[in-house]
Order: sequence, then structure tokens, then C-alpha cells
Amino acid sequence: MDVKKILVVGAGTMGNGIAQTASISGYDVTMTDVSPEILERATAVIAKSVEKLATKGVIDETQKEAALQIATALDLEAAREADLVVEAATENPELKLKLFADLDGMAPEKTILASNTSSISLTKIGAATKRPDKVIGMHFFNPVPLMKLLEVVRGLATSDETTQAVVEVGRKMGKEPVEAMDSPGFISNRILCPMINEAVFALQEGIGTAEAIDTVMKLGMNHPMGPLALADLIGLDVVLFVLEVLHRDLGEDKYRPCPLLRKMVDASYLGRKTGRGFYDYSK
Ligand code: 3HC
Repeated sequence: MDVKKILVVGAGTMGNGIAQTASISGYDVTMTDVSPEILERATAVIAKSVEKLATKGVIDETQKEAALQIATALDLEAAREADLVVEAATENPELKLKLFADLDGMAPEKTILASNTSSISLTKIGAATKRPDKVIGMHFFNPVPLMKLLEVVRGLATSDETTQAVVEVGRKMGKEPVEAMDSPGFISNRILCPMINEAVFALQEGIGTAEAIDTVMKLGMNHPMGPLALADLIGLDVVLFVLEVLHRDLGEDKYRPCPLLRKMVDASYLGRKTGRGFYDYSK
């Protein structure tokens, strides 16, 4: 299938990163969200990012201009013309299932409906539509313009044709697509979130300070950032949600979310987005 028009649903950190990357890769992109303020913020984030990438020579002026002209909308009407929809809305199962049912009712029969979900079953999302063969996971990584991985997640009914089309789009977006089965957390979060959880347990037990834990993983294991700083980047609420899915759906206590992580989410210490997580970002 020849994908030309892409609708990105959700203009938060992941959505605007996906829209930006798709647009500089030559796709005709519309980005939608529920409030004008979110869209304005997303447009400003994209402008800052492409300015930086253009200054460094990573992208040229034409690509920068394309990203600055991404169409925005407050409804899903652009689904009627899209070849591919990439949903990057809030990680809320009811909301996603409803969104997919709505998109299914609006998009042409040929349109692929992809989700950037980090943990919700693609098989379940597919079952909310009448085209489960055209429903697939396109799991991008934060910050989307810089991270090379695209985890392509197949639901039980996802077709080879859909998978192939999405792998091609991923490559054109400069990503390295890797296929994963539809299993809780897929490959990435099945491994990453328990590691972050263990780092929070180490902090809770006083084995080391947040700085000490992160420094060990950075200098001893060559991770670009420590697990607690990474949790702050991802959002502590997202990490907790993924761990709850792993704990519930895999049924093993080793995935039990650390009480300190829960407490921080209860306090709205969600990381960079609220100005406070394991580190203070208020200044
Ligand atoms: N657009 C353009 N440029 C950007 C950018 C963006 N969105 N984000 C960062 N940059 C730039 C910075 O401005 C900086 O530019 P400069 O050198 O000119 O100042 C440059 O990239 C490097 O950034 P930093 O100096 O801040 O720090 P690093 O060298 O450590 O790089 C990083 C930042 C790429 C985020 C790196 O730390 C990293 O790879 N961290 C790990 C990220 C990761 O693991 N992400 C996956 C999260 S999991 C996920 O998303 C899935 C979900 O389901 C949970």
C-alpha cells in the first residue's frame, strides 16, 4: 500500500514527535487534539525541534518548512482522507477503544489504523473495529525525532500486508522497525519498566541516592541516562500504568509496582511534565 497522507491523533510529546518526523520524511500530515492550547504547544515544540535539527544540518530547509506547516485540527475529519492513522492519545483503554471504533467508522476501507500504545493489547484494539487485519502497533520512543527504534506490534488478526506497509513507513521515517508479538509491554516495556521499577525499589530501600543509582547505570552500564532520569522523561504515571498491566496480565509478583512509585504518582510528581519527579525541573 502506498501511504501518502497520515493523520496523527494526539499532539502530546509522542504525537507531536511522530507528526514532526512523518512530515520531514515527506508525508502529508495532519495532527489533531481536543484543545487549541495543546495544538499550539505542540506546534511550538515542533518549531523548536526542527530549528535545532536544521541548525545542525540533520534536516534541510524544505524539511523544516514542511514540519512548520503541519495541518492541525480539533476533530477526526482528516481520517476520511488518510492512508494511515497513528493514534498517540492518552494511555487510557476505554478512550482508545472508543477512538478506534470512531476512526473505523470514518476512515476509508483501505486505511491502516495504528496505535502508539505502550502497553494496551493490539488484539483488543483491533477487535473494537471491523478491520482488525488493518490494526497494528507503531510504538515510537521519546524523543521521537532522535530515537531510532520503531517497535511494530502485530495483533492476532494483523495481516502481513499491513505489517509490511507500516515497516516501509517506519523505514522512510528513518527508523529501524523491529517486530514484536502482542504481549503485555511487547519487548521494550517488558524489559525497561521492570528495570526502572527495580531502580525505584533501590531508592526506596536507601541503597543509594537517585544520583548514585543513575550514575551507576550511566557509567557502569553505558546507558545514556539513568533509569530514574529516564522515568522522569517518560512520565511516572506512564511507567506505573505499564507495570500495572504487566503485573495484572502476566500475573507474576516480580512486576509489582514499587510503593514509592505509586506514592509519587499520587502526589502528581510525574517527572519533567509536572516539573518534579525523582529530580526537580522547576528551575
Ligand atoms: N528534537 C531535536 N533535538 C533534540 C530533541 C528533540 N526532540 N531532544 C533533545 N535534542 C537535542 C538536545 O537539544 C541536545 O542538543 P545540543 O547538543 O545541541 O544541546 C542533543 O539533542 C543532546 O541532548 P542532551 O544534551 O540533552 O542529552 P543527551 O546527549 O543525553 O541526549 C537523549 C538526549 C537522546 C534523550 C539521550 O539521553 C537518550 O537517548 N536517552 C534515553 C532515551 C530513551 O531511552 N528513550 C526511550 C524512552 S521509553 C519510551 O519512549 C517508550 C514508552 O512506551 C515508555
